[in-house]
Amino acid sequence: MIKNYSRTDGKPILCPSILSADFAALGEAIEKVEDHVDVIHLDIMDGHFVPNMTIGPMVIADLRRRSQLVFDVHLMIENPLDWIEHFANSGADMISIHQEACPHLLRGLQQIRDLGLKAGVVINPGTPLAAVEEALPYADFVLLMTVNPGFGGQQYIDTMTDKISRLRQVVDQLDNDVLIQIDGGVNPDNIARLYQAGADLIVVGNAVFGQPDPVQAVETLRACFVS
Ligand code: DX5
Ligand code: ZN
Repeated sequence: MIKNYSRTDGKPILCPSILSADFAALGEAIEKVEDHVDVIHLDIMDGHFVPNMTIGPMVIADLRRRSQLVFDVHLMIENPLDWIEHFANSGADMISIHQEACPHLLRGLQQIRDLGLKAGVVINPGTPLAAVEEALPYADFVLLMTVNPGFGGQQYIDTMTDKISRLRQVVDQLDNDVLIQIDGGVNPDNIARLYQAGADLIVVGNAVFGQPDPVQAVETLRACFVS
């Protein structure tokens, strides 16, 4: 998914989320961090699955023309299977779909893989890990929400750390490679602990694009892993 990622390197893959950026200047926001990160996390909200709205495939397609970064598209929408192909065509590299929104979850994950993309399954903080167990052979990554989705800048839900550790144990027993992504409330004070708990891909919204200097903010997060 991300070239040469290994936990033996002792650091996660940072995925800055544009949710905390200025939506009137998304292209410029991504350009700022283009040479400093590998992934951009794009939050898609429909006002139904979550109480907020963001952007659709047309905006992603326009951003795609400006950036070479891995586009990680997090679908917080109802009926996500109806939209997978549209987001794939717009330039997504990774698409994650919520278990809570998918009566046919495995079909959705397969659809994402058949389009040549990396497939992720997401669960909300209140959804038990057991809800993704059957999906693990069909997923390239599992995204654990560490806030209730819908808004940036919320506080990390402390009980999620144990959930990350428990998923780490499950994933480490698998034959196939499944990465663990976390999303919500991550900052320089907790990022090292959450990586230790088992997260591979760490979404950071407010801690990057909510800061006056996003590049400096990325460096501050990376400094948490310099031994
Ligand atoms: C929340 C989104 C997140 C959001 C995280 O529903 O899925 O990706 O941007 O923002 P922070 O890091 O500010 O909690
Ligand atoms: Zn997200």
